Amino acid sequence: MSKGHVLVTGGAGFIGSHLIDQLLERDFEVSVLDCLKPQVHADAEVDADGWPVYLDRRARRIRGDILDDGVFESALTGVTHLAHLAASVGVGQSMTNIVDYCRNNVMTAAIMLETLSRRPHKVQRIAVASSMSIYGEGAYSGRCGTVAPALRPHEQLAAHEWELADEDGSPLVPVPTAEDKLLQPASIYAVNKRDHEEMFLSVGRALGIPTVALRLFNAYGSRQALSNPYTGVAAIFISRLLNDQPPLVFEDGSQRRDFVHVHDVARAFATVLDSDMSVWDYYNVGSGRSITVREIAAVLARLLHKNIGPEILGQHRVGDIRHCFADISKLERDFGLTPRRGFEEGMGELIEWVSRARRPVDRAQTCLGELQGSRLVV
Ligand SMILES: NC(=O)c1ccc[n+]([C@@H]2O[C@H](COP(=O)([O-])OP(=O)(O)OC[C@H]3O[C@@H](n4cnc5c(N)ncnc54)[C@H](O)[C@@H]3O)[C@@H](O)[C@H]2O)c1
Repeated sequence: MSKGHVLVTGGAGFIGSHLIDQLLERDFEVSVLDCLKPQVHADAEVDADGWPVYLDRRARRIRGDILDDGVFESALTGVTHLAHLAASVGVGQSMTNIVDYCRNNVMTAAIMLETLSRRPHKVQRIAVASSMSIYGEGAYSGRCGTVAPALRPHEQLAAHEWELADEDGSPLVPVPTAEDKLLQPASIYAVNKRDHEEMFLSVGRALGIPTVALRLFNAYGSRQALSNPYTGVAAIFISRLLNDQPPLVFEDGSQRRDFVHVHDVARAFATVLDSDMSVWDYYNVGSGRSITVREIAAVLARLLHKNIGPEILGQHRVGDIRHCFADISKLERDFGLTPRRGFEEGMGELIEWVSRARRPVDRAQTCLGELQGSRLVV
């Protein structure tokens, strides 16, 4: 017997499609609502109707844009659980396409929540995709304990001094970022994600619908859009390497990030949706380990058998933070979840998939040119 009927918005995308696999395995019925954005799907292998071939046939498919009148409301028919993942996901792109990003990442939330609050429906649990980007800089340890520093000042970045320091100049050491860290979003995408998280949590609480926002760190794995230069760094680097080009690395490449495999991200969503906890809260979803961007470039080159080192640009991309990696203890404490995929094993899965997929078009240089033209690199 079905456990319920989940509507996955953005379900044709990278994370959503993996979530659908796991929900079907757990005996949920699934519908996917997706507008199949060309930037995400143009280079993917698709069927005659334009859906990516990796999408499980058992999921009911609704092609539509949440922003269009009545689309979300009619997709809600029979739905008991909502997983909201649809979004525009490029941090850098959000700094130039500001109207589009606010519309697609915040107005969508407004439309969905107003529908849930005014129209009849059976939704009894919600999970939404939030992002580590809402933290801005991660947490650091200084002489007075854990601190949440502001973004590095422009003059410091212009002088190519990348690391953070205390007011008296002593170095700050990055430490795992927990959910209670001050939110200091540094891009329009991050502001959007913070707003949409808070909108869902506040309306979810008011309507008595348990709601969880999952703050995803850097997700990677099969089905990632390899030709979309505005998203995941691992996919962008792979795309460059496969085209025999060096990965383009901002600053000096020593920035630390947290890479979490998409299976672990999908498992977090599926577990939260499958639970009966009365909860209105946010959780980090990361690997709990940090790795530098330069190390990622080296691992990928090795796994792809390419003798190509990264090109260190020595430039700062406006909106980028220096270090951020997750404290994942809250998700473990409340939902018993710990990541299962190690970094090399996970990257192996991504590369395996890439070797079977269509060769990606490398658009990283064009994207860099756009940023430089908009004075968004210093
Ligand atoms: N990938 C990551 O590392 C990461 C990190 C943090 C947060 N997130 C969040 O996770 C979610 C999923 O990300 P992803 O990497 O799978 O992205 P993706 O681009 O692969 O998938 C997003 C999907 O949403 C669809 N979509 C976008 N706007 C829509 C709209 N208005 N109506 C209907 N469909 C729409 C797109 O066509 C696409 O299929 C997003 O909300 C993103 O902000 C992702």
